[in-house]
Amino acid sequence: MTDKKIIAVMGATGAQGGGLVRAILNDDSSPFAVRALTRNPDSDKAKELQKLGAEVVAADVEDAASVSKAFEGAYGAFCVTFFWEHFSPEKELNHARAMAKAAKAAGVKHVIWSTLEDTRKWVPLDDNRMPTLMDKFKVPHFDTKGEANQVFTDAGVPTTFLLTSFYWDNMIYFGMGPKKGPDGQLAITLPMDDKELPGIAAEDIGRCAYGIFQRGDEYIGKTVGIAGEHLTGAQMAASLSDALDQPVLYNAVEPEVYRGFGFPGAEDLGNMFQFKRDFNKDYRAARNLDTSRDLNPSLQSFDNWLSKNKSRIPLE
Ligand SMILES: NC(=O)c1ccc[n+]([C@@H]2O[C@H](COP(=O)([O-])OP(=O)(O)OC[C@H]3O[C@@H](n4cnc5c(N)ncnc54)[C@H](OP(=O)(O)O)[C@@H]3O)[C@@H](O)[C@H]2O)c1
Repeated sequence: MTDKKIIAVMGATGAQGGGLVRAILNDDSSPFAVRALTRNPDSDKAKELQKLGAEVVAADVEDAASVSKAFEGAYGAFCVTFFWEHFSPEKELNHARAMAKAAKAAGVKHVIWSTLEDTRKWVPLDDNRMPTLMDKFKVPHFDTKGEANQVFTDAGVPTTFLLTSFYWDNMIYFGMGPKKGPDGQLAITLPMDDKELPGIAAEDIGRCAYGIFQRGDEYIGKTVGIAGEHLTGAQMAASLSDALDQPVLYNAVEPEVYRGFGFPGAEDLGNMFQFKRDFNKDYRAARNLDTSRDLNPSLQSFDNWLSKNKSRIPLE
């Protein structure tokens, strides 16, 4: 038994949750212990977390009873949903409900809810600048996360609303890295025009969440947005050119072109980038770099992140 306060981490084998698990376990004097939730405690990733010192517990967010059980006795919970596993906003909302209900029932003292903007507050459904998707969303994977903020508030759970940013790791895992055009020239393609895109090393999201837990009640009831840097497509291309030691161009396309790329989620992401472009001032203002660095002193810049990860970016 530990006398440390337990933080139950949803998505512990993934990007956001994994960053939090490692941030806590790498700090020998941490007042927190980690309960890593996973559907499969026997997986290599789960065993790795156990070796680092985490208590590994089986939980599936589809199974509300398993979440309730996993939250019992926890001081804190990191709650995240997994849109790209199922592409269903309804599921995302149900999963948030299950976690909020479980946190309330277990008397969890501090939940961090990994959220994003409900873009319909900026672009109502009858605004035709971007298409409505799945009948009632503009950016499905953003809108339900924002809508679910109220779920945690209504459940009466002490919650910090953590607004995350575009992971630079999408260049490794999500097909968003430089690609060769017909002329053989490498380019990144983003529908951001000349606007700055807040981005972050995925690992830093969990480290910022750790900073929030360390501050006790300070951020409860508050929204905090985090990013490592705000960069234009041209600036990202310049950094990539330096890191990869070969020219990378920025291919700025219109959002409607991006929506038409045809890969699963292209319309959702086309709308997402258009939201970030058209409401750039609000979107950036919600993600303060000084606050992010204060929460996580080892916050990485894009160049720092590239120096460690450039060899992992597939250059197709
Ligand atoms: N990519 C971006 O730029 C970006 C930016 C901001 C926000 N987001 C959001 O981040 C969310 C995903 O977080 P992530 O990137 O940390 O995820 P991730 O790296 O894809 O990992 C997800 C982890 O969640 C677990 N998981 C999946 N389904 C589960 C279920 N039914 N019950 C319990 N655990 C489950 C899996 O663990 P096990 O297999 O071990 O169970 C997996 O390791 C998405 O909703 C996305 O919209 C992404």
